[in-house]
Amino acid sequence: MSVEGKGRVLTTRKLLSMKMKGEKIAMLTAYDYTSARIVDEAGIDIILVGDSAANVMAGHETTLPITIDQMIYHAQSVMRAVKNPLVVVDMPFGTYQGNSKMALSNAVRIMKESEADAVKVEGGSEVLESVQRILSAGIPVMGHLGLTPQSIHKFGTYSVRAKEEAEAEKLLQDALALEEAGCFAIVLEKIPAALGKRVAESLKIPVIGIGAGRYVDGQVLVMHDMLGLNTEFSPRFLRRYHNLRDEYLKAFHQYVEDVKSGDFPNEQEQY
Ligand code: KIV
Repeated sequence: MSVEGKGRVLTTRKLLSMKMKGEKIAMLTAYDYTSARIVDEAGIDIILVGDSAANVMAGHETTLPITIDQMIYHAQSVMRAVKNPLVVVDMPFGTYQGNSKMALSNAVRIMKESEADAVKVEGGSEVLESVQRILSAGIPVMGHLGLTPQSIHKFGTYSVRAKEEAEAEKLLQDALALEEAGCFAIVLEKIPAALGKRVAESLKIPVIGIGAGRYVDGQVLVMHDMLGLNTEFSPRFLRRYHNLRDEYLKAFHQYVEDVKSGDFPNEQEQY
């Protein structure tokens, strides 16, 4: 529970006050119990149970195939682990677009079954009615603009969005509309830093970037990417904090070798 005085430290109100004080917000994805515990211990402000689970956990090329049941499973695993951060769950593709009643019932399912704190949806004016209806049930909503991976088949590319003024202006208007509707924060993905700055300065709610430059109110990365588990994925915005793939590989090689050679288990490792 993230209600102030009753449980975890991070609330949507706290995020707002962080923005007002100029305190940067650190957000990271997590999809399972063990990693979420470590992320929590590291002092993260927001955990996103991202639909990027479709890519990094399940190996799909896009985020489209992940189901609401799968998202709830990941969110439940994360919720068992966390004490402090706010936990936001991505609403998967097809669960909120085009039908606001369906959007509300899916958001309610996520909140009831996972006990997470908020949901995230991609898009601006196209999904505004759904956002408003979800908010009307008291469910906090985080927006997501710029590169919106659930629309990859419409855009056809994962390249930087809103480089042209018309698209930049639409993005700003969408951000303002999401704020006006009552969203508590917005993620901006892969847009020019100058636009990230413009949006962050125009909004009272926190703007959290992934490839949106340094002038926004916080940053989010996909855990597997920042740990260096995916070496094929290296966009400019990604800072790798580890080369965990090589560490894993070294350990797995050693294990195979030790089993094959009979070195493992030794006298002390048996009963
Ligand atoms: O699903 C996800 O991980 C996301 C982040 C890229 C913001 O939406």
